[in-house]
Amino acid sequence: MPTTPTQMHLTASIFNAANPGFRENFDEKPFEFTHCFCADHPLFQLSRLRQLIDDPVTRPGIYYDAGEIGIGQRWDSVPERKQTLEETFDRIDNAGAWILMKRVHKDPDYSEVLDECLKEVQRLSGRQIDQDKKSQEAIIFLTSPNRVTSYHIDRECNFLMQVRGEKEISVFDRNDREVLPETELETFWSKDNNAGVYKPQYQNRATVFLMKPGTGVHIPVNFPHWLKNGNNVSISLSISYQYKDWQRKYVFQANYYLRKMGLNPTPPGKSALLDNTKRMVMQAGFAGKKLLQQKRAN
Ligand SMILES: [Fe+2]
Repeated sequence: MPTTPTQMHLTASIFNAANPGFRENFDEKPFEFTHCFCADHPLFQLSRLRQLIDDPVTRPGIYYDAGEIGIGQRWDSVPERKQTLEETFDRIDNAGAWILMKRVHKDPDYSEVLDECLKEVQRLSGRQIDQDKKSQEAIIFLTSPNRVTSYHIDRECNFLMQVRGEKEISVFDRNDREVLPETELETFWSKDNNAGVYKPQYQNRATVFLMKPGTGVHIPVNFPHWLKNGNNVSISLSISYQYKDWQRKYVFQANYYLRKMGLNPTPPGKSALLDNTKRMVMQAGFAGKKLLQQKRAN
């Protein structure tokens, strides 16, 4: 039976099983880990990544930009593109670019990597990822030398793995309300992916990891972060999943609307009764909205 490029390189475990972070810090604190994906892996060669641009299945998921980016810059205010995706990719060593390949798991080889990684994370962490998740995703980041990835928060529980080159990542605590006020979280979950605002005065509160090929960093949901690439082309693989909406999203959304009504809502986690009530109200609201949309469409 033929072996796929993934199987050839997944002969042993993907992560270092002795790392206590998977069990102790999972989705609570960032931690460093090691993994088996290195620069010579066939799935992370530039020639193989170039195929993802040419593939009509994976190409629609590719985003790119180029130019000077500040740490606190919003993603919707990046410089205008002056080159095509192909030109940017082919000149990645001096394009000042950031290429985000979001749908790589639509390719069977990367889909296998995603499945195997999450299976192993589930085993090492002891969490019920299969039951908790509503979606899963593999992303490959290709970054030009010295390029900054601006400060942001994500809705995914993420394992970011460095495959080629070195870069630094600053990760902040989602529970630090000076760094990340409740209002930013509410806005993020309700309407604005750029709601996290970088506060340079708190930079010294970040945990900074130097990522090298074969190392990775676990970024828990909503932990703010920004990255600075080294003087090298960087290739990273992100394996992540999103929780079902009732876990966080509905509670933050309910609080967003309560605050708009002039109230001062109780933050999530303080009262199970309030959290569950908000979840049920939001869930019912979305179900009603969906029903209305379906009726209008018929
Ligand atoms: Fe991120």
